[in-house]
Amino acid sequence: MMFFEKTLLSIETSCDDTSIAITKGLEVKANVISSQVEHSKYGGVIPELASRKHQKNILHCIQLALKEANIPLADIEGVAFTQGPGLIGSLLVGHHTAKAFSQSLKIPLYPIDHIHSHVFSAFCDKDISYIEYPFLSLVVSGGHTDVHIVETAFEIKKIGSTLDDAAGEAFDKCAKLIGYDYPGGALIDAKSISHTNEDDFIPFPIAKVKDFHFSYSGLKTSVKYYLQDKLKSNPNYVAENESLLCFSIQKSIVSPLLNEIEKAIKKHPVKSISVGGGVSCNSYLREKISQLCKKNDVQVFLPEKKYTTDNAAMIGITCFLQKYPSKENIYEIKAYARRNEI
Ligand code: KG4
Ligand code: ZN
Repeated sequence: MMFFEKTLLSIETSCDDTSIAITKGLEVKANVISSQVEHSKYGGVIPELASRKHQKNILHCIQLALKEANIPLADIEGVAFTQGPGLIGSLLVGHHTAKAFSQSLKIPLYPIDHIHSHVFSAFCDKDISYIEYPFLSLVVSGGHTDVHIVETAFEIKKIGSTLDDAAGEAFDKCAKLIGYDYPGGALIDAKSISHTNEDDFIPFPIAKVKDFHFSYSGLKTSVKYYLQDKLKSNPNYVAENESLLCFSIQKSIVSPLLNEIEKAIKKHPVKSISVGGGVSCNSYLREKISQLCKKNDVQVFLPEKKYTTDNAAMIGITCFLQKYPSKENIYEIKAYARRNEI
């Protein structure tokens, strides 16, 4: 045990997944995720629809989580919730539900940053007695591609990020060009698996930007023109070359991540690195970053796949690692869509 472990109810509603967790220390007793499938037909998340669905789902998800953890509401000692960044309407549903539970149960309310929780998501349900700081962190999700130096659980310094599209966004936009439903990242991963020759790939251009930074907006344009050109002479090009196409897109997104992480390891010698966010579920990234870390004698912490995409368990364990951050006056706690609004 690192220090006092409270039983927490955690709420994550930053985007289109309603998630509720019950945690104690790093232990996850329940992690309910209700995904909103209705956005896929629009090719992206519709904010108003997302907040309405959160409102509809949230109490049911809380009931399910308590049942799964087999814990009565009276045993909950604090409520953690995602304060931001994210879609403001969605965040407000989580914030106000958390506030209502905190006030009615007379237990503390803990606001947690969504990106910080992806930084620590690799520690969900891990049987470890301490975390050694500093470590490097790579957060790769639908909205963020960030490299951090994690000095302590409270001092998380961003040293690089994407200049335009996030890695997950690049996956999803390229997937759309192939004809997959939103979000198509996981399908690109699945279709790439049958492509076994790593040296055979379409060399889509990779943007050169400053150290630890990324740029993905050019990729979708190259994929778009490449497909237009190929489809002119062969209308079945995509179906006939699906795994090659998917693997090439995946490689173009993952390679810069590996290159910049290797540079970061060399510039900031650390003993370990954590990876988090939806794209950390990608099997090619997981395999390649594990090899890279082994080569550089660095320990890699990868989240279990269920803790890669948005989930409330990572909110609960971050609240614990950050020693239950709260404010005496809970009315001073506000949700924020972007970090610079804090
Ligand atoms: O962290 P997350 O659930 O939401 C945000 O905070 O953005 O990440 C969602 C992103 C989507 O872009 C989705 O396509 C991507 O994660 N994703 C994947 C995989 N699974 C989810 N991308 C590549 N390979 C996967 N296996
Ligand atoms: Zn996220």
